[in-house]
Amino acid sequence: MRQDGRQGGAAEGLSEDAYGAMAGRALRPAGFPRRARNALPAAAGIGLRSPHVRQVRTERPPIPWLEVHSENYFADGGPAIRALEDLRTDYPLSLHGVGMSLGSTDPLDRVHLAKLKRLVDRIEPALVSEHLCWSGVGGRHFNDLLPLPYTEEALAHVSTRVAQVQEALGRELLVENVSTYLGFADATIPEWEFVTEVVRRSGCRLLLDVNNIHVNAVNHGFDADRYLAAIPGEMVAEIHLAGFDASGSCLIDTHGAPVAPPVWALFSRAIARFGPRPTLIEWDLDIPALAVLQSEAAKAQSILDPHHVVAG
Ligand SMILES: [Fe+2]
Repeated sequence: MRQDGRQGGAAEGLSEDAYGAMAGRALRPAGFPRRARNALPAAAGIGLRSPHVRQVRTERPPIPWLEVHSENYFADGGPAIRALEDLRTDYPLSLHGVGMSLGSTDPLDRVHLAKLKRLVDRIEPALVSEHLCWSGVGGRHFNDLLPLPYTEEALAHVSTRVAQVQEALGRELLVENVSTYLGFADATIPEWEFVTEVVRRSGCRLLLDVNNIHVNAVNHGFDADRYLAAIPGEMVAEIHLAGFDASGSCLIDTHGAPVAPPVWALFSRAIARFGPRPTLIEWDLDIPALAVLQSEAAKAQSILDPHHVVAG
């Protein structure tokens, strides 16, 4: 029994053994996971946070799409979910989770999964995403997106969990590469290979955070372009951009600053390689005026636009 009193166990309808037996091979049944019928435009949206909800609802600014944190809308009713139901009439939406703890060795949290599925069924978002990390163990939860050891064992484990979440939701999940501040001595797999192999095994796609690639490249001393070159374009369903803090001994992914020049440059090279993709400006700390986020999104759009012309 867990500390919160709930029984653990594999996600509904699946056993750990069934997926464990397939470790190292594709974990998805044919024709699965399903993607949403609606799609996000390959344009620059913003992460909608509570200080801007009222303004966006009343002014309906021309933002191509919005992303929200799933857990903020887990209540079954109330003003938050009513706001989202209102906004979905005018804006394509993406649900971005921060609390699934995909890489944990605890059993998947069925209550969390059930709340997410209820929200997904209600909002019918274009995309649903989570982080490739862990944020709790032994029933204890942390407010951090903690790094996975890039080993074969962790790869098999997290790939199985992604497949289980997709099965429970009945649809595709995107997984996001996270910023990290330490590596594991027994890691054997480069981050970019680990990430792409999770996608291959589980049938999910990537939410590629270009800022996180830059932060990790600086913090761990690898070449960010080598990372990009290892990612097959068809895996990339969405891109994140955000700002970091460079005042300490390593870069910290704070989501509290404008996108940095080297990240804009890396984003340009990513779009040149992958083509235009739905791109999100994330800002979660010292959140500025909505106009500042729109200005950042306009900058991203100016990088996307020439590639739309080429594609057309
Ligand atoms: Fe992100």
